[in-house]
Amino acid sequence: MSTIVIIGAQWGDEGKGKIVDFLTEKCDYVVRFQGGCNAGHTVVVGDKKYILHLIPSGILHKEKKCIIGNGVVVDPGALLKEIDTLKEKDIEIDGNLFISKHCHLIMPYHIAIEEQTEKKKKIGTTKKGIGPCYTDKIARNGVRMVDLLYPEVLSDKIRANLDIINFLLKNLYNAEELKEGEILSLYLDYAEKLKKYIADTDILINQAIDSGKSILFEGAQGTLLDIDHGTYPYVTSSNTIAGGACTGAGVSPRKIDKILGIVKAYTTRVGEGPFPTEIKDDLGERIRKNGGEYGATTGRPRRCGWLDLIGLKHAIRVNGFTGIAITKLDILDGIDKLKVCVGYKYKNAILEDFPKELEILQNCTPLYEELPGWNESTSGIRDYEKLPTNAKKYLQFIEDKLNVKIQIISTGQKRDEIIIKESPL
Ligand code: GDP
Ligand code: IMO
Ligand code: MG
Repeated sequence: MSTIVIIGAQWGDEGKGKIVDFLTEKCDYVVRFQGGCNAGHTVVVGDKKYILHLIPSGILHKEKKCIIGNGVVVDPGALLKEIDTLKEKDIEIDGNLFISKHCHLIMPYHIAIEEQTEKKKKIGTTKKGIGPCYTDKIARNGVRMVDLLYPEVLSDKIRANLDIINFLLKNLYNAEELKEGEILSLYLDYAEKLKKYIADTDILINQAIDSGKSILFEGAQGTLLDIDHGTYPYVTSSNTIAGGACTGAGVSPRKIDKILGIVKAYTTRVGEGPFPTEIKDDLGERIRKNGGEYGATTGRPRRCGWLDLIGLKHAIRVNGFTGIAITKLDILDGIDKLKVCVGYKYKNAILEDFPKELEILQNCTPLYEELPGWNESTSGIRDYEKLPTNAKKYLQFIEDKLNVKIQIISTGQKRDEIIIKESPL
């Protein structure tokens, strides 16, 4: 038996989906514990590509149980669409998918409010209603999955929330009001379709752990998007770090064995917010093009930059990674010189720790060490020894500076384009 948490170490899109899919082979359960359909986790198997938003990336493996834990915010319409898309591709969902009764539901008014708030103060969100839904959760106004099973409770909650939301939409935002009856009948329809998946998932997960099963907790987004430890306010609205797995699934920290950080060989970010190592010239465009760095959820071009060891040191500290996986090494093939950020300069100070102040992050200059690149292709390499010498030196440099073991190196999109240096489980 073992449990492992998979966490994005940067600003999301590190390739978590690919690594989760790969490691699912060794696990019995895959559990999402935070975020919602703002996530886009890509898995490529053979010539088929799947993008998972809410359903754990383990679902492609037959007979593995997939759980959407209580910490996830669920848009039932988006979930049903995802279920249908997967079923069309012959993926087995019924009997393999369980959703916590305590998941909060994204309601149409969350999306309507976010549409307005993004106009006033742009975070560059995915506009999936994530922030407003978590706001309602914390304010104790949320509608939960369990409420779908009790139409009267559902109806009362929708009415009470719409009283306030419609006032805001009309008077503050000059926008169209939403109709209570329409939302209620839509959500009652969702209830009919989803009720077979709704379960006491905390009990399921703990029973599985107690009976010796292996559990993989699949993080969404990344450490620097964490609501507490990220680049606030340019973050998502959940705890994306490893600790979130405990609260978002109902599992004791004592039951977490391993924590694997997923690190892209360079850095990307979608949306607004500081990004010290961003490359703003043609090389950034080349990496975006070669790396296919366009949002898996929104299609937006991702901002690209050099690897940032200061951000990663912060990620290691707040997550306690027991190992890391380096992904997309192949995308650096053919780049003459590779820069790696080893410090920040702000005014006359040299910073070695990720600053808490947004002002500093926005205005610091990254300090780089330069490493020679490689011309050979690393695409699809499965044996560490076959990597070009300079690629090995790049990896060794990262490992030495971060003082954490690189356990996995990913060299392509496909499941088997991977080097396992040591088992992370
Ligand atoms: P996630 O959100 O962390 O799961 O990552 P995304 O799926 O949003 O973005 C990662 C993208 O990189 C996807 O298109 C993956 O198929 C792709 N990818 C993952 N690992 C590798 C790799 O090692 N090499 C290449 N070339 N692509 C990869
Ligand atoms: P995965 O799981 C990258 C970003 C958005 C925006 C900020 C807030 O695929 O790595 P939100 O809609 O969550 O309120 O947006 O967070 N963001 C992501 N960026 N990958 C993701 O997920 C993201 N989910 C949210 O772009 O900057
Ligand atoms: Mg993604």
